[in-house]
Amino acid sequence: MAKRIRFNAFSMNCAGHQSPGLWTHRDDRSAQYTDLEYWSELAQLLERGKFDSIFLADVLGAYDVYGGSPEHAFRQGLQIPVNDPLLVLPAMAQVTKHLGLAVTCSVIYEHPYSFARRMSTLDHLSKGRVGWNVVSSFLDSAARNFGMKQQIDHDRRYDVADEYMEVCYKLWEGSWESDAVVRDRKRKIFTEPHKVHGICHAGEHYNVPGFHLCEPSPQRTPVLFQAGASRRGREFAARHAECIFIGGPSKIHLKRFIDQVRERAAELGRNPSDILFLKAQSIVVAETEAEAKAKYRALREHVSYEGTLTLVSGWTGIDFARYRPEDELNYVQTNAGQGTLEYLTSGDSSKKWTLRNMADWLGVGGGSIVGSPEQVADSLQEWIEETGLDGFNLTYALAHDSFKDIVELVVPELQRRGVYRRDYERATLRENLFNQTAYLPDTHPGAAFRNLA
Ligand SMILES: Cc1cc2nc3c(=O)[nH]c(=O)nc-3n(C[C@H](O)[C@H](O)[C@H](O)COP(=O)(O)O)c2cc1C
Repeated sequence: MAKRIRFNAFSMNCAGHQSPGLWTHRDDRSAQYTDLEYWSELAQLLERGKFDSIFLADVLGAYDVYGGSPEHAFRQGLQIPVNDPLLVLPAMAQVTKHLGLAVTCSVIYEHPYSFARRMSTLDHLSKGRVGWNVVSSFLDSAARNFGMKQQIDHDRRYDVADEYMEVCYKLWEGSWESDAVVRDRKRKIFTEPHKVHGICHAGEHYNVPGFHLCEPSPQRTPVLFQAGASRRGREFAARHAECIFIGGPSKIHLKRFIDQVRERAAELGRNPSDILFLKAQSIVVAETEAEAKAKYRALREHVSYEGTLTLVSGWTGIDFARYRPEDELNYVQTNAGQGTLEYLTSGDSSKKWTLRNMADWLGVGGGSIVGSPEQVADSLQEWIEETGLDGFNLTYALAHDSFKDIVELVVPELQRRGVYRRDYERATLRENLFNQTAYLPDTHPGAAFRNLA
């Protein structure tokens, strides 16, 4: 039987997310990101298309590596101005019933004690539909505004992240027993005090002696998303992640990545099928191939070469303004993100990437699949079958037109082929993703912190 395909929508609380320049297209709505209706309409559209979730990216600094200045990012609206992603979640939760709502928060710039409360609150308000994309950040411009000279070293950021996770697991999983809150009017007891436990965490980076401030939410721990792809990032993912976002043009690279992470997860005592892999993907689809190609050509006219390099310079920490479009891309280890360059420079060794090729490939939301609904469905199924992927993290070229096209043209084709859900099966995000319990599975490392009594 063909494998089921999952869709997640990738967006950000700003105008220029992954498609530099396309906000200038007359049909793009992303400049309206400051309106609540922009988000509630998007959530309703995605739920109509039975997407698993929407995931909002976030950064806490400007992309100022390209040309050594944030000028290009400002001019092009590239991930700046950028609003807080958490605050639009309740608006989306209110107008939907099933769509998962995942948000990016960096472990470097926020204390786990207050963060854990915000996520529990969102999980309560959404009735168990929250996910957290755990990132350790890549921009020095963010670090400087939090009082540091520069970012903590790359691998060390993941060490901080490991301890951050431990604090969160203790708060979410162990601090409150399931029957601690009784709301007993007769006995005049809201919470049984002996069923709430301080977590007594004393570590290298955090000291949290007390208890979680929230009663257990439907999922307790939000569904854990992760997207770091470096060697250390993969180790972190194998240990903690339930959904992994990956990028890259090479099926060989992707398959190797997926096999390695699943193998490592098994070594760590996890069930490898408790991890889903979703590839970042742009889709340009129309009723016919000719129309889709024409649409793609029109979109390409709005793509900004400098804008694309501004993004990649930020991700990788390399100032691409110093190179010519025909210069070849080589792997260099930096203290920013390491996964992006790795996936562009490894995999199919026959393919050498120049800056121009890379900008072309990323331009319309990243490695676009262009075609009729049948062609797009064929291509998606090929990726799934040849790499072991579970689904796609879909970027948009035009907000919200790209998602509307996918919902109206691609989803019905996949449903016809029997590889896409016709309706949501369960209540919480974790149940819908894994068809198991709303809580972390027992083999997940977070489950080890359940009994703190
Ligand atoms: C699809 C995708 C989405 C990402 N979204 C974010 C984000 O919103 N915010 C962020 O700080 N990093 C984001 N990242 C970056 C990674 O989470 C990670 O912190 C970065 O790649 C450095 O990790 P690495 O060196 O292990 O690759 C994303 C990466 C990918 C592939």
